[in-house]
Amino acid sequence: MSVIVTATASVNIAVIKYWGKRDEELILPLNDSISATLDTNVMCARTSVCARPDIEENEMYLNGIKTSFDNKRLQTCLNKIKAIATLQKVVDKEFLSWNVRICSENNFPTAAGLASSAAGYACLVTALAKLYKIESDISQLARLGSGSACRSVFGGFVRWHAGGKCDGSDSTASQIVQSTHWPEMRVLVLVVADKKKHTSSSIGMKRSVESSELLKYRVEHCVPRRVDEMINAIKGKDFQRFAELTMKDSNQFHAVCLDSYPPFHYLTNVSYKIIDVIHKYNEICKETRVAYTFDAGPNACLFLLEKDVPEVLSLIKYIFPSPNTDYVRGLDVPKAEEENT
Ligand code: PMV
Repeated sequence: MSVIVTATASVNIAVIKYWGKRDEELILPLNDSISATLDTNVMCARTSVCARPDIEENEMYLNGIKTSFDNKRLQTCLNKIKAIATLQKVVDKEFLSWNVRICSENNFPTAAGLASSAAGYACLVTALAKLYKIESDISQLARLGSGSACRSVFGGFVRWHAGGKCDGSDSTASQIVQSTHWPEMRVLVLVVADKKKHTSSSIGMKRSVESSELLKYRVEHCVPRRVDEMINAIKGKDFQRFAELTMKDSNQFHAVCLDSYPPFHYLTNVSYKIIDVIHKYNEICKETRVAYTFDAGPNACLFLLEKDVPEVLSLIKYIFPSPNTDYVRGLDVPKAEEENT
């Protein structure tokens, strides 16, 4: 007897960034954040979890390679979900005692600032919740794996509410609008480098919290206003406002990295060139047609409307000739499938 459950979840791109934790154990953020979840099957993680009595110890495979299960966050998610299943008495004790084999695959570069952990944990937690048949807030469970993962459990535009409670019970994600709300919206992902980042987001955030005055100012004075304005821009499909806020927030996040001590940075010369090209292009167009944003890596995510994709894509291909500038995607919701054998 074995039970196998499979789930998929997509990458989310933050337009108002999460940067800085107020609680490292529970992964509670200093500020609210907003992101867009990409289409399913485009840049996504797919995770299968198999539970069987003859699996000798818990196993984890990432993109086909066996990796250590000795990962605190992975274990926290599994233990938490098993604890909820025990409380809810939804599966029997013997099933809960079986070990699991987790196989997860990403169809995009892992740990290059492309939110691979977000998609990975969102789908791991979705699969585990299905396996153990629990009723729970999946976004809160995904948050325990990787903060930004809590936003990948929804499609469309999503807000992660920082919350204020010490136990994290109000630090959860909610959908602002469905992916169908803004059908013209497109995202171009420009892979500048697909290497693992040198400063992990956890280390970077800790350093910023400990040393950056700009981070304090951002959390107190900038983010609350930007979150309200961003929600209005998204609901009103105001691309100009959306784009300006997105770029300013990305720039401020990277300024915080430089304001940290010792400083660290994720952007490369190519990333800066992309920033310059986009501003020049918007200036020539006499309106903002494209917005860039960069997470904790050098890769650019460009937000634009469908009508502008051909022109912007040819511009990018002309300035940065490469066979790989080929991600042109929309927004959609993640799916989960279940299979019992
Ligand atoms: O969830 P983490 O620990 O990978 O941190 C993500 C931080 C950013 O991607 C830079 C911003 C965000 O809101 O996703």
